[in-house]
Amino acid sequence: MKSLDDFAKSKLDQLRQRRLHRAIKESVREDGLWIERDGKRLLSFACNDYLNLTHHPALKEAAIDAIRRYGVGAGASRLVTGNHPLYAQLEGRLARLKGTDAACVFGSGYLANAGIVPVLIGQDGLVLVDELAHSCLWAGAQLTRGKVLTFRHNDAAHLSELLHRHRKQHNRAIILTDGVFSMDGDLAPLDEFSEIASRHDTWLMTDDAHGLGVVGDGRGSAAVHVAHVPLQMGTLSKALGGYGGYICASEAVIDLIRNRARTLVYSTGLPPPVVAASIAAMDLIESDAALVCRPVAKARAFTRLTNLPDAQSPIVPLLIGDETPTLRASQMLADEGFLVPAIRPPSVPEGTSRLRLTFTAAHPDNEIERLAAIVRAQLSAH
Ligand SMILES: Cc1ncc(COP(=O)(O)O)c(C=O)c1O
Repeated sequence: MKSLDDFAKSKLDQLRQRRLHRAIKESVREDGLWIERDGKRLLSFACNDYLNLTHHPALKEAAIDAIRRYGVGAGASRLVTGNHPLYAQLEGRLARLKGTDAACVFGSGYLANAGIVPVLIGQDGLVLVDELAHSCLWAGAQLTRGKVLTFRHNDAAHLSELLHRHRKQHNRAIILTDGVFSMDGDLAPLDEFSEIASRHDTWLMTDDAHGLGVVGDGRGSAAVHVAHVPLQMGTLSKALGGYGGYICASEAVIDLIRNRARTLVYSTGLPPPVVAASIAAMDLIESDAALVCRPVAKARAFTRLTNLPDAQSPIVPLLIGDETPTLRASQMLADEGFLVPAIRPPSVPEGTSRLRLTFTAAHPDNEIERLAAIVRAQLSAH
């Protein structure tokens, strides 16, 4: 239809003019570290595969065994016939690692957040969201149809002030924050947030997509702060190397979510091999403490070499500002053999375009040193 194509083309023109148009590039990931793209082999500082488990033999074997036993797909929603036996195993393991009574696995992290928040908060409720929270926490917040307020990034005083002013007008309230921020790599002050939450009878929910398997001895951001976080959401797609989302909480909350989360009830269960691979990943995370420590140690080696603040997670941003120099810097690093993506709005706020580096357990130290030397020499001008 002409009007439809015209609409798409004019939107695309606007994106191109603002240097915000993105292309999805074919990427062949050989081994969880190296990537072939546009005929070039690049060392990736772009994947969230922090423990390089996407290609681990134990995960591949577990996935193949599960296919042989249960097939390649779940066949239906978990509430119908899609709840193959691997689910209970994985949920038990996640709950144990996070120190909660129960867990529920979803189709993805995005689906988890979009489904969970509206189960807990309705149109008379209050949702407080960190300004830098991940897009899918915002999606969950908006789907509640309640009042949504933004607090300044990691600002406990601002959060407290908003609760003082607004909490009493609402029946229920929830705080939504990343545990480890996906584009900045910093950690939320969960000990302070949990104290504020309990003072205002408000529920604290963390998105720990980038925490599980890499911080808090692998148990995630709540374990770093020893904070009580009654709703701990995360994904199976980053350090665990597979796919899927989850929430860890009390027995009653999980039962309610299983009954009411639309993205769980009305969506097909995860394929058995994906769940089996996550169980194998949990085995490694729980048994190999040295592996779990390595991504943050590698990130910290880089931040020390480049005189940046000490990395708190495997994610290190190099802030540049405008889109054009950010794209240029990313290309310059690609010419040196490194894949370091340029992150632009709307993934980050306007004026904060950046290079985002992610470190994994297997990054060779000499390559980190080479990258740091280039960053020191070339990018310090920005
Ligand atoms: C903080 C955060 N939450 C949630 C997600 C979504 O998880 P998934 O990829 O499993 O949908 C991501 C990234 O993809 C993320 O970075």
